[in-house]
Amino acid sequence: MMDLQTLQQDLSAQITGAADITALEALRVHTLGKKGIITEQLKSLGGMDEAARKTTGAAINELKSHITAALDARRAELQRAEMSARLAHEQMDVTLPPRAVADGRVHPISQTIEEIIQIFAQMGFCLADGPNIDDDFHNFGALNFPDDHPAREMHDTFYLPSAPDGRKMLLRTHTSTVQVRTMQNQKPPIRIITCGRTYRSDYDMTHTPMFHQCEGLMIDKATHMGHLKGCLQDFLRAFFNVDDLPIRLRPSFFPFVEPGAEVDIGCSRRDGELKIGNYGDWLEILGCGMVHPNVLMACGIDPNEYQGFAFGMGIERLAMLKYGIPDLRTFFEGDARWLKHYGFGLHDQPNVAVGLV
Ligand code: DAH
Repeated sequence: MMDLQTLQQDLSAQITGAADITALEALRVHTLGKKGIITEQLKSLGGMDEAARKTTGAAINELKSHITAALDARRAELQRAEMSARLAHEQMDVTLPPRAVADGRVHPISQTIEEIIQIFAQMGFCLADGPNIDDDFHNFGALNFPDDHPAREMHDTFYLPSAPDGRKMLLRTHTSTVQVRTMQNQKPPIRIITCGRTYRSDYDMTHTPMFHQCEGLMIDKATHMGHLKGCLQDFLRAFFNVDDLPIRLRPSFFPFVEPGAEVDIGCSRRDGELKIGNYGDWLEILGCGMVHPNVLMACGIDPNEYQGFAFGMGIERLAMLKYGIPDLRTFFEGDARWLKHYGFGLHDQPNVAVGLV
């Protein structure tokens, strides 16, 4: 019969000294396994007389529970150490740019929209939104397009099956729909812009069936064309980063404004190169005007109390001019090489203070 006291000391020392889980597991088998030392000790009880069996049995069981506890404690200790080592090893710097994403680019349309929003937000405009699928009333009726007016055809509308309530549905041909929705749902004073997709059945160098527009609307009690011109001038100068950019308003017709105008910005076309700035030549850039009283009335606003201005512009056109992109159709071809060339880095956040590129 082995000296249990010595055995316990010996085994305890081995357990505390086990270097890893594998060594510890070997020790468990060596002590408590089917052929382990302690198991063998228990088996030896059979050959003892009753009194000896009682005392020795109790002593062996005490040894067994002591060793079991020691094994458990060491196992927990080793697991903790292993976890700490793993955590230290797998540590990552969350401030590093994610590699896979850093290879992606921000589309020039997304970038341009961000820039537009930044500038108008500085002027106190809120962001508004509306659906791409809309009805005839929001796209035409409320905007003072008479039924069967040729202006409706000018828009090359994609019509959709009528709604169950009989409304004529379509893909919005311009973002002016959002003017209507905003005036219906908000009380003046109103100062909003919206940017989004628009659709017309047209396709060539300068037209794609889906394109983007930005629309602005300001309604208050004493708004006049001077405000409109100042607002657009500030925007265009900030957007193109040209402090002395001249703008001019030419009379034009849009059913939803009176008077209506087209805005030109200064440019140069010398030697076949287009440059934006104070160079004596002019380039058309957007449409605008004072909101027509019929539109205000259709949206529940009293034209005797309120008036305001609206403007609309093509986002692709702004992006093409600012970033020198020659062909509109390439915007939507999804060519990764094009996007790598014309796209923007993930962290190139536009802001008005330090420029936009
Ligand atoms: N909706 C017009 C278009 O798509 C653009 C436009 C012109 C919007 C004049 C306006 C505006 O708000 O006042 O061609």
